[in-house]
Amino acid sequence: MKRYHIITFGCQMNEHDSETMAGMLEEMGMTRALTRSEADLVILNTCSVRENADKRFFGTLGQLKNIRESRDGFYVAVCGCMMQQQHIVDTIKEKYPWVDIVFGTHNIHHLPELLNNVINEHEKVMEIYEDGLDIVEGLPAKRLYRHKSFVNITYGCNNFCTYCIVPYTRGRERSRNENDIVNEVRRLVSEGVKEVTLLGQNVNSYRGENTDFPGLIYMLEEVEGLERIRFMTSHPKDLSPALVTAFKECGRLCRHIHLPVQSGSNEILKAMNRRYTREKYMDLVASLRDAVPDIAVTTDIIVGFPGETEKDFCDTLDLAEKVKYDSAFTFLYSIRKGTPAAEYEDQVPEDIKHERFNRLVECINASAAEKNAKYVGRVCDVLVDGRSRNDIFTYQGRTDGFKLVNFRSDRDLTGQIVPVRITGSNTFSLKGETDD
Ligand code: SAH
Ligand code: SF4
Ligand code: F3S
Repeated sequence: MKRYHIITFGCQMNEHDSETMAGMLEEMGMTRALTRSEADLVILNTCSVRENADKRFFGTLGQLKNIRESRDGFYVAVCGCMMQQQHIVDTIKEKYPWVDIVFGTHNIHHLPELLNNVINEHEKVMEIYEDGLDIVEGLPAKRLYRHKSFVNITYGCNNFCTYCIVPYTRGRERSRNENDIVNEVRRLVSEGVKEVTLLGQNVNSYRGENTDFPGLIYMLEEVEGLERIRFMTSHPKDLSPALVTAFKECGRLCRHIHLPVQSGSNEILKAMNRRYTREKYMDLVASLRDAVPDIAVTTDIIVGFPGETEKDFCDTLDLAEKVKYDSAFTFLYSIRKGTPAAEYEDQVPEDIKHERFNRLVECINASAAEKNAKYVGRVCDVLVDGRSRNDIFTYQGRTDGFKLVNFRSDRDLTGQIVPVRITGSNTFSLKGETDD
């Protein structure tokens, strides 16, 4: 087995797990294949957050069957959140018996052993733990970018929002020791990383040995050579005044917060078990904007949660109009087997969900375009990620407010932080130019 190809679905946790798996495979001497047909091993790292993620996975798995049947020495492994659901594993056993390896979100560090079993013992392997054991430190990772990196700070989730499958697929919340995190960041910086994104389903409930989340930010602020700190995701119920102060005091903390609201209706928020009100949420945004006036605020919103009335939805629209988001991920509510909301009887009909969804997107796009237009004429520091996929003369990067900027340059500026004059804007990005 020489070449691997990993297909990743879902969130940054999964992206980072895929980087870790790539790191382990490269330590075993394997190299990355650009396409699935050039690979000897294809790994599908799955997501179960919404139904369309399930569908895409089974679609891709179906396509792999042909290669698996026509080529000896071609192996297929499936892992990630879907594998923590018994009914999915049963379906794979029944309908896709040719899959070689099945493992869960808590078994990633065993990948080399699982592979050895398949190759040497010629047997199929399946390993799925119910819940996370201890946190495994020191696994290698093959990063997608040289200049930026994800860093896990917590695993799992204890919040049990009633629509959400994540607490069942990722297990109970566990925090990493702060010294392990700081040491990892130091090592990353020595390898050329300028920006870290701290990952947790709810970073605000991070509890290290001797520090909470704002304390961790202050520790990272001291790491020499680190230019930018970001984090995802922040649950409004646990966002502390100390974090607001950290935004004011920590120069490396990016002026952006992703603060999922999910709904603007107090009744729906209660039914979702979010444990804050729309008033509390809007106060939080106001205090963040008081502390850092141009902080970018983004969010996640679910449309059509069971029992959502036209009035509930109008409360969401009203909140979005008042908050004026820089951007938002909007989702149609999707029934997830095993979650409380899946059992609710007052499910919203699909056509109403879609109609509300379109109205919400229009509202979000209007505020996003308005926010972006304000940047025209300013000079922003942009961390350059690389060339645009559509045009090789155009570079792409992010401002510290997480705005996507496209600009032309004769020099390859990838991995550098450069000042870019913003000359134009639209709903999803900014356009700019460098002075040289
Ligand atoms: N831990 C993060 C979110 C993880 S899931 C947080 O709490 O913010 C990412 C987003 O998917 C959620 O914020 C929610 O908006 C959406 N989502 C989760 N379950 C969903 C479901 N059953 N239907 C539709 N959207 C869902
Ligand atoms: Fe899901 Fe809620 Fe946990 Fe986020 S906080 S992962 S939405 S249960
Ligand atoms: Fe992420 Fe999807 Fe799992 S959103 S935590 S990969 S269910």
